[in-house]
Amino acid sequence: MASPLQNQDPTRIGGFTLHRRLAIGGMGVVYLGRSRGGHVVAVKTVRPEIAAAPEFRRRFATEVRTARRVGGFYGAEVVDSDTDGDPPWLATAYIPGPTLHQAVIDHGPMPLASVTCMGAGLAEALHLVHSKGVVHRDVKPGNVILGEHGPRLIDFGIARALDVTSHTLTGTIMGTAAFMSPEQARGEDVGPSGDVFSLGCLLAYAATGRHPFGDGAAHAVTYRIVHQDPDLTGLPHPLAGTVARCLAKDPDERPSPARVLEECGDAAGDGPPDDAAAWPPDTVTEVIDAHKTMLLTLVDPEGGKAPIPPKKAKKRKKGKKRKKGSGSPPPGGTTGAKRPRAGRNRRRARPVRVGTPPPWRTAGATMSPSPTSSLPAGTPARARSGATGSTVTTPR
Ligand SMILES: Nc1ncnc2c1ncn2[C@@H]1O[C@H](COP(=O)(O)OP(=O)(O)O)[C@@H](O)[C@H]1O
Ligand SMILES: [Mg+2]
Repeated sequence: MASPLQNQDPTRIGGFTLHRRLAIGGMGVVYLGRSRGGHVVAVKTVRPEIAAAPEFRRRFATEVRTARRVGGFYGAEVVDSDTDGDPPWLATAYIPGPTLHQAVIDHGPMPLASVTCMGAGLAEALHLVHSKGVVHRDVKPGNVILGEHGPRLIDFGIARALDVTSHTLTGTIMGTAAFMSPEQARGEDVGPSGDVFSLGCLLAYAATGRHPFGDGAAHAVTYRIVHQDPDLTGLPHPLAGTVARCLAKDPDERPSPARVLEECGDAAGDGPPDDAAAWPPDTVTEVIDAHKTMLLTLVDPEGGKAPIPPKKAKKRKKGKKRKKGSGSPPPGGTTGAKRPRAGRNRRRARPVRVGTPPPWRTAGATMSPSPTSSLPAGTPARARSGATGSTVTTPR
């Protein structure tokens, strides 16, 4: 979930205090940070050796511009950045929740209703991304965070604006091998339908726990992507049909994101799926709760015990002693640390804010119409919401 800072890690970047490592990405470490006002962010940094190359700095600046252009409604809101800094960094609103990659590794395939809910959410996200003239080009499980209110598409590291000439050299393959479209794998130009292909791979992976073009070395997987049919065994109807259409070799034969959104609604049965039951899946709810608990421990600088999650707190009676070792241990190895005593030095926990809940789905509410006004009528009211290299990278 998150690991402690290491000796070489900075403790501050921009206006943010860094508390944990969230991930080690292709470009550098992503940290969990807090603003002075208590807002929690993910701070993505670029490793010095990469930052030394002007091309990478430029690409990072493009990532920041693209992420700002797309906005945070379906992804992570850009809070601040310094692409000329040392290191260059980008702070986005922290989204508590596992990536799809982590969720499938830890808990296996997701229930069908949750997959279709996620599919609709991501299709809607792509619809918006494309309507802003951007192609993501790295839609994969590691770039999808399963948030409380829906899936969020992050990481515009190799995204490309359709209205500007790409600085990518023709023939250079960028992206993640296992989730690339055939045209991307061939080093050709990738349009919006390339993202739809990747979405198809991702949905199959979420529903079955297997990649539709199999595992193995990157070149073997890309070969199958380009030349062979996907293995959709175990994918229930009608989701299998939608996924198969997304995985068409010919980009022109793939459905639009708006069409995928519509079909995901149908795939869940008659009428819109029951959002409340489908999202978030139980296993994801547990991880989201754990992330939130971790956030609360950040404001206890002396490393006190993990706060009691709200549900359990209700049950605990006043005066009743807590069983030793009960409850979830706080991350960062602080189990057993003494709670700071009340008194002059006791620092009061300040609230931690994790961004604004997206308006598209609050409990029992419907989606805010703004970015989706051109979507087909009656589509389900759900959804929210690279590091690069000149060679293919391993799936994440
Ligand atoms: N806003 C965010 N909220 C929560 N976690 C994040 C956020 N941004 C990044 N992460 C975490 O950091 C990882 C790497 O971030 P990403 O932007 O995908 O960088 P990379 O280019 O290295 O793949 C993600 O898979 C996710 O675990
Ligand atoms: Mg990524």
